[in-house]
Amino acid sequence: MAKIEVLISEEDLIKRIKELGVEISEDYKDKEISMICVLKGGVMFMTDLAKEIKPLMSMGFMAISSYGNQTSSSGIVKIEKDLDEPIEGKDVLIVEDIIDSGRTLNYLIKVLKDRNPNSVKIVTLLDKPDRRIMNVDVEYVGFTIPDEFVLGYGLDYLQNYRNLPYIGIMKGLE
Ligand code: IMP
Ligand code: MG
Repeated sequence: MAKIEVLISEEDLIKRIKELGVEISEDYKDKEISMICVLKGGVMFMTDLAKEIKPLMSMGFMAISSYGNQTSSSGIVKIEKDLDEPIEGKDVLIVEDIIDSGRTLNYLIKVLKDRNPNSVKIVTLLDKPDRRIMNVDVEYVGFTIPDEFVLGYGLDYLQNYRNLPYIGIMKGLE
């Protein structure tokens, strides 16, 4: 059995997500938000955050790969699943699980800005700033965490553990 240590408890996640919801609702109070979830990691965060959002909002989903089945970034970024609707003139809020090297979001921001939205901002649950290789301007951060491989609450290790209701650190990884 793998040993998983709790880094951020379910209670702390819920509390912080409520705060982010209040902040985002206030910032977008006269707007409509096009929330875009980056699959699969962002899905738990997206659904919990969306419930705390007061302005009118829609949900879109994209899948981008940059990792493969590894625990360190390969540097290859590719759109695996694109949005179903255009975002021209929309106020886009990208919902991401974690920013690590920044490659995924650096790329995604460029792709989305080319589609002429009114604005593009990012909300990420977790940020690992020590690992940043490419610059990303992030509007909302749930938690800044140390350079450790984390899992749970949407984040996987070899596609498993996404269902954990907390953020954990797996001990004994290379
Ligand atoms: P970046 O392009 O290096 O910023 O990587 C971002 C993506 O890598 C995230 O959206 C995650 O899917 C994945 N990732 C980065 N760090 C971790 C981690 O500690 N645990 C699980 N997935 C991670
Ligand atoms: Mg992700």
